[in-house]
Amino acid sequence: RKNLVVAIDGYSSCGKSTLAKALAKKLGFIYIDSGAMYRAVTLYFIRNHTEINNIAAVKDALEHIELNFHSRDYQSHITLNGEEVSEEIRQMPVSENVSEVSANKLVRKEMVKQQQRMGKSKNIVMDGRDIGTTVFPDAQVKFFMTADPKIRAERRFNELQSKGDTSTSLEDVFENLAHRDYADTTRVESPLTRAEDAIILDNTELSETEQLDFALSQVHEHM
Ligand code: C5P
Repeated sequence: RKNLVVAIDGYSSCGKSTLAKALAKKLGFIYIDSGAMYRAVTLYFIRNHTEINNIAAVKDALEHIELNFHSRDYQSHITLNGEEVSEEIRQMPVSENVSEVSANKLVRKEMVKQQQRMGKSKNIVMDGRDIGTTVFPDAQVKFFMTADPKIRAERRFNELQSKGDTSTSLEDVFENLAHRDYADTTRVESPLTRAEDAIILDNTELSETEQLDFALSQVHEHM
């Protein structure tokens, strides 16, 4: 491939998007949050009572979903059929249902197709669960991120609190992360797993600057 792709995969809430955004900004690449796509599909399914096991209903729903990214300052602003849903897709109802929706074969097939199209000719940083394994197995640089589960839960809890969600407890967040990690790593379709050539980045004890410096040095080495 002529264009450059940086793939960042890893567990839930271990700072993938923070690093991906910072990296994209530094490199002048486009940032694509693949998780936001699965979240937006999940939101559509919740609103329309789409039954995940009803193949015809899922197919029909996917035909009626249009997702678009608006890259303002490398934040991921996503629209679902023209509506800005960036905030709503981070809330608990979506987090609680996204693993089930993203395990669906038809959903994955459609999202992977759209992701591959987005990374066809432009330099991108994409984060998710299967970017280095399935979406862009030929990405020039791959990272696999991980961090202590308690630290991850605290970070996500603080983020929810700062956005005004006071009804979700730290335990709720911890359980949701554990559930998603389990579902994401054990599903049949493209389970979360480290690509053989992915660089492991455990950020339990690394600051954002330290992670960015490490990632940049790796990118420069591999490109
Ligand atoms: O990255 P984020 O935590 O927002 O992703 C939400 C969920 O979407 C994950 O728990 C996972 O089930 C799913 N996902 C996926 N494949 C991706 C990105 C996200 O299955 N590439």
